Amino acid sequence: MDFLANELKELEHKGLYRQARRLDGPQSPRTVIEGKECLLLSSNNYLGLTEHPDVKKAAKEAIERWGAGAGGSRLTTGNYALHEELEQEIASFKKSAGAVLFGTGYMANLGVIQALAGRGDAIISDELNHASIIDGARLSRAEVKVYRHRDTGHLEEILAESRDNRRRLIVTDGVFSMDGDLALLPDIVVLAERYSAMVMVDDAHGTGVFGRRGTGSVEHFGLEGKIQVQIGTLSKALGSAGAYVAGTRELVDYLKNKARSFIFSTAPPPAAVGAALAAMRIVQRQPDIRQQLWRNARYLRGELKGLGYNVPAYESPIIPIFIGDAAETMRLARELHDGGVFAPGIRPPTVPQGTSRIRVTVMAAHTLEDLDRALLVFDRAGRRLGII
Ligand SMILES: Cc1ncc(COP(=O)(O)O)c(C=O)c1O
Repeated sequence: MDFLANELKELEHKGLYRQARRLDGPQSPRTVIEGKECLLLSSNNYLGLTEHPDVKKAAKEAIERWGAGAGGSRLTTGNYALHEELEQEIASFKKSAGAVLFGTGYMANLGVIQALAGRGDAIISDELNHASIIDGARLSRAEVKVYRHRDTGHLEEILAESRDNRRRLIVTDGVFSMDGDLALLPDIVVLAERYSAMVMVDDAHGTGVFGRRGTGSVEHFGLEGKIQVQIGTLSKALGSAGAYVAGTRELVDYLKNKARSFIFSTAPPPAAVGAALAAMRIVQRQPDIRQQLWRNARYLRGELKGLGYNVPAYESPIIPIFIGDAAETMRLARELHDGGVFAPGIRPPTVPQGTSRIRVTVMAAHTLEDLDRALLVFDRAGRRLGII
C-alpha cells in the first residue's frame, strides 16, 4: 500500500492535493466555515431553497409519513406514492410525457448513457462535460468521441465520421458546471437531425435557473420537444438531492428496465423527494426568486470585471474568475477566505491544465450589501497578490 502515501505526496507537490472544508452552518449567504463567519459565494443552492421553510417542512413531513429511508430499490419495495408524485410534477414542469428519478445526478448520467449506448455505438461528447458523463461513456463500451468545447464545426466532422456506428448519442451539459456558459443547443439539434443522432442534455445547473419558467437551458432556447433526453438534478437550484430524466413514456420505461444505477440502487429517501417536490412548486409559483438571482448575477459579474478580474462576458450565475496557475489560484482562495469570503479554487483534473480558476456562484438570497462586502474582499485580495 506504499503507493497511497507516494501518490498523496505527489499531489501535494503539484498543488493538486484536495481537502474538504467543513461547514459549521447552513447553505446560506452568510455561514460559518471552519469556525469562521463567511460569505458563501460558491454554492449551487442558486435559489436558496435548501433553507426555504416550505422545503424544510416538506422534508420533515415526508419523514413523518414515509420514514427515513426508502428500504429498497424502486423495482422492489422502495416505490412510494411520493416518488410517483414527484415524477408527475417533473413531467408537467418539463412538458414531457414522463420522468424518472435517480439517486443523484452522477447516477443518472452513468445509468442513462450506459442504457442508451453500447458496443458499436458512438457517444459524441463536449470536452468540458461533467465527470459523470465521461464516466458513463466509459462504462457503456461505446466508442467515445470528444469534440472541442462548443465547437459545432468539430461536432459535425465527428458526426460525419460516425455514419457507420449503429447509434449516435450527442451528450452535453446544458450549462457547463465550471464555466457557466451554455451549450449551443440550437445548432446541436440541427446537426442531430441531419445525422440522425440522439441528443442528451445534462441540465444540472440549468434546472430552476434558465428559461422563462425556470425549466432549464432547453426552454431558454425554445427547443422543447426537440431534445430526446433531458437530465436535471434536484441537488442544486432545487435545494434537495437526486436527479431526474424527462422524456417520452418509452424512454422512461426503457430506463426503468435498463439503467443499472436505477435498478440496483435504493430509491431516493422520502425526505429528499418531499423537499424536491416542494421546491419544484416554489420554482413554478415564485418566479421573483429567479429574477432576484439574475439581478445578483449580473451585478456581481459586472463589478468583478470592473475590478480587473478575468471574467467572461456571458450571463450566468456561475462566474469563473480565470487565474491559470493552480498554486496562484489556491493562494487567492486562501486570501479570500481570510477576508471572509468562501469561493474555492478549482484545479485540474476538474478543469483543464492552465485554466485554474475561482468558481464564484451567486444566490438569490444574497443581498446587495453581501455582494458589496464580498467585492471589497476581492479587490483587496486581488491587489495584494498582483492579480488585478
Ligand atoms: C453538470 C453536472 N452533472 C451532474 C452532476 C452530478 O450531480 P449530483 O451532485 O446530483 O450527483 C453535477 C454536479 O455535481 C454537474 O455539475
